[in-house]
Amino acid sequence: MGNKVTVLGGGAMGTACAILLSENPEQEVALWTRNPEHAAVMAQSRQNERLLPGVKIPASVAITADVEAAIDGADILVAAVPTAFLREALTDWAPLLTADRPMVSVIKGIENETFLRPSEIISEILGQRGVVALGGPSHAEEISRRLPASVVAASGDLSLAKRVQAMFTTDRFRVYTNVDIIGVEMAAALKNIVAIAAGICDGLGFGDNAKAGLITRGLVEMTRFGTAMGAEASTFSGLAGLGDLVTTCVSPYGRNREVGERLGKGETLEQIQADMKSVAEGVWTTRSVYELSDQRDVDMPIANEVYQVLFEGKSPTAATESLMLRPPKR
Ligand code: 13P
Repeated sequence: MGNKVTVLGGGAMGTACAILLSENPEQEVALWTRNPEHAAVMAQSRQNERLLPGVKIPASVAITADVEAAIDGADILVAAVPTAFLREALTDWAPLLTADRPMVSVIKGIENETFLRPSEIISEILGQRGVVALGGPSHAEEISRRLPASVVAASGDLSLAKRVQAMFTTDRFRVYTNVDIIGVEMAAALKNIVAIAAGICDGLGFGDNAKAGLITRGLVEMTRFGTAMGAEASTFSGLAGLGDLVTTCVSPYGRNREVGERLGKGETLEQIQADMKSVAEGVWTTRSVYELSDQRDVDMPIANEVYQVLFEGKSPTAATESLMLRPPKR
C-alpha cells in the first residue's frame, strides 16, 4: 500500500482532513487549494485563518495550488470541494489522474440538474475507479481540534472502505465501514435540508419540541427519499443518517442551520449568501431534491417547504403552518 494522500480542496473540511491524515506518521499528506495566494498564506502561517482560525496545520502537510505537484505520486485522493464545483474541478484534474487511484469523497450534496451524487460525478468524469464516501457527524471545526468524532466509510468495494478506515483512524477519529454508498451519500446530502428547517425553527424561537419533532420527521423523510433512490433504510439510523442529522441541526456553527436561522429572522437568501464564508450545500441540494422528488413522486413535505422559503419567497411562518396543518397521513 502506498503512502501519499492528496486532499483536493482547501476549505474547512479539506483542511481538517489533511490535519487528521497527517497524524499517521506513515502517511505523506498534500493539500491542494485552488487559489495560489491562499495556498501561500496557509503554507506560511500554517493556518486556514478564515475558516479554522487558531488551528495549526502541521509542517508535514505540503500545501500547494499546483495540482500537478499535489497529485504527483499520490496513491489515494480525497475530494473536498462543494458539489457545485466538483464537475469542473474533476475535469481539470482528469488528465493527471490515472485510473488506478481511488478517490474518497467527503462531499455532501446532490448535483443540480443531473441529480448525481458526488461518487457518480467522479465516476462519470474520471471513469470507473474505486470511490469511497465518508459521512457522519464531522464538523471540520471540531475534527481539526481533535475532538472525538465517529464516521462511516462506504464503498461497493468493502476492502477499499477498510483501507480508508485505516488511513483516517486516530485515537480521536473512529471510522466504521459499510457497502451502502448510495445511503451514505443520500443521507449526507438530505440532512442539510432538514438542518435549514431546524435553523428556521431557531430563528423563529420555536424551542426544543419543535426541533425534536422536525428532526424525527426529517429522518423519516430522508429515509423515504433515500430508499426510493436505492439506499438501505438502516443506513439512515446510523452515523451518516441520524448522527449527521443531529450534529447539523444543533450545531451553533453549522452552515446550513445558520442559513435557516437567518431566514427565520427575516433575512433573504441573497443577503445571507453574500456574507457567508463557505457554501451551505443544503441550499442547492434542496433544489435537486425538490425536483427529483416531484419526478419520482416521493412525498417530501419538509424539503418542499424549505424549497418554497428559499426560492419562492414563502415566509417561514407560512411554511410552518403548511407543515402543521397538512392533512394527517394516518
Ligand atoms: P454544515 O455545512 O451545515 O456546517 O454541516 C457540516 C456537516 O456536514 C457536519 O457533519
